[in-house]
Amino acid sequence: MVNKKKNNYVSKDKIRNNFERKEPKNIILSIKKASYRYNDAEENDYALKDVSFDFESGKIYAIRGRSGTGKTTLLSLISGLEKCTEGEIIFDGKSLNGMNLDKYRNSDIGIVFQSYNLLPFMTASENIILSMDANGLKIKNKKEKAIELMEKVGLKENYADRKVLRLSGGEQQRVAIARSLSYNPKMIIADEPTGNLDKQTETEILEIFKKLAHEENKCVIIVTHSQNVCDTVDVIYDLKKVKDVSASK
Ligand SMILES: Nc1ncnc2c1ncn2[C@@H]1O[C@H](COP(=O)(O)OP(=O)(O)OP(=O)(O)O)[C@@H](O)[C@H]1O
Ligand SMILES: [Mg+2]
Repeated sequence: MVNKKKNNYVSKDKIRNNFERKEPKNIILSIKKASYRYNDAEENDYALKDVSFDFESGKIYAIRGRSGTGKTTLLSLISGLEKCTEGEIIFDGKSLNGMNLDKYRNSDIGIVFQSYNLLPFMTASENIILSMDANGLKIKNKKEKAIELMEKVGLKENYADRKVLRLSGGEQQRVAIARSLSYNPKMIIADEPTGNLDKQTETEILEIFKKLAHEENKCVIIVTHSQNVCDTVDVIYDLKKVKDVSASK
């Protein structure tokens, strides 16, 4: 089922016949006619134009589109790193425009990057504890909590004291996901999290994201170029080049 929206962004809901579902939607984040222009861009040079997407808790989403269609820009807006030039983003019923964005980023959103962004000379557990400290978490036994999070993403306890530079790419991404879970966020957003991994490892990482969505009711949003990811998720949103969108209006 492909649902062509007015704004020419295409969404495809793979959930069993979405229109026939009786239960109310559990929307955690809503992007409403969001546009974004970088400060140094010319007046009409938008990186994103009129994007409207809804995201529900308990589902896993892919955002795909060719290079330069604004996928990373969209994640910056969702994570509150940038503010919409026009339109707005509503999280849990409140507009990000009037929100304390540092608090939002430090409690509601977990972020996972393609290149893991871990500190290589620190151990896996130290990287996770660093994030707990940065977010001001008051936990008695942080190492125990870090090990618990690592086990959740399939890493045994003996990995806790291993330096990150001695871990494989797939293992590093597991640590990065564990780190993003340290403050139990409602949403996890990931920018090409499997872009550096082989297909088997990608599938294993996707299983973790799927569990977080389907068993822990988190909303997981993955920017991706991978067909394997698109085949796994519940909903796919396609972004198109702003120029293509304008031309077809
Ligand atoms: N800091 C910036 N300043 C000015 N323009 C930017 C900046 N970052 C991105 N852009 C522009 O915004 C547009 C969207 O970029 P973005 O990085 O969001 O695309 P993307 O879909 O993530 O691409 P890719 O698949 O290559 O990662 C591009 O035209 C890019 O040149
Ligand atoms: Mg990008």
